[in-house]
Amino acid sequence: WPVYAPYVAAINRLKAERGAVILAHNYQTPEIFHCVADIVGDSLQLAKEAGKVDADIIVQCGVHFMAETSKLLNPEKTVLIPDMKAGCSLSESITGADVRLLRERYPGVPVVTYVNTSAEVKAETDICCTSSNAVQVVESFGVDTVLCIPDEYLAQNVAAQTDVKILTWKGHCEVHERFTAEELQAYKDADPEIEIIAHPECPTDVVEMADYAGSTAGMINYVRDQRPPKVLLVTECSMASNIQSEVPEVEFVKPCNLCPHMKRITLPKILDSLCEMKEEVTVDPAIAERARRAVERMVNLTN
Ligand code: 13P
Ligand code: SF4
Repeated sequence: WPVYAPYVAAINRLKAERGAVILAHNYQTPEIFHCVADIVGDSLQLAKEAGKVDADIIVQCGVHFMAETSKLLNPEKTVLIPDMKAGCSLSESITGADVRLLRERYPGVPVVTYVNTSAEVKAETDICCTSSNAVQVVESFGVDTVLCIPDEYLAQNVAAQTDVKILTWKGHCEVHERFTAEELQAYKDADPEIEIIAHPECPTDVVEMADYAGSTAGMINYVRDQRPPKVLLVTECSMASNIQSEVPEVEFVKPCNLCPHMKRITLPKILDSLCEMKEEVTVDPAIAERARRAVERMVNLTN
């Protein structure tokens, strides 16, 4: 990719000079994922790695809640995000005040919050979860009812795998809610050999059609291990592009949907971020401690 080469060289030079580390989510574009990232992964992996890094500066190539999570686990480090507007429809679907109202409505019911939420929301909850550990987290309380917020579809997909009664919220991922069982059926009808792998943020009828459902890292591992001849990754477009070179024999069948928030992060913005040390992500100390506790409980449970 010659067009990217000057940016890649400049970013990697500046990264070394500044003593910075780049954490990139699996939905970042291939030139970020392959050429400048030090650590790549799903939300859980990035949360865990954020707590282990030695560097003084973290550049988070992902969306805002991911950078906040890194800041929560590394309060003494500088956490930068190349575009402060990189949000998330799930994170924006709920506020701390909403969670307080839910607690009034369901007194005594533990609240599990998906990691795709603001620090303000995490601070109001008992523990975080990601798509790869949600069932384990929900069952860790040993009670019969748990609130699992804010993703309605993730909650329904968890409910299908546990006896715990799951109450939820009406948040949705704007990328995954667009996939339909009808469109997947059309691909299956055209080619019955095709394997379908879906993210649990998809509607339940989509997940039910999948040969495998899991976090972005789970999906990558499935393709790496199983090497299906033809696979449809029901998730964000960059996933297939990022792993294609590792599994050249696998044919990736699209449709895929772009996450406009993830796509706000680009090489020029990463370079700017390192040059000018911007945009710095901070978390109000009044909420940071409680939010950190919710993330750490999850990390400790899944270690
Ligand atoms: P993962 O935790 O599976 O990486 O998912 C994060 C996300 O934003 C999916 O839309
Ligand atoms: Fe949020 Fe969906 Fe984008 Fe993930 S893909 S960051 S859940 S909007």
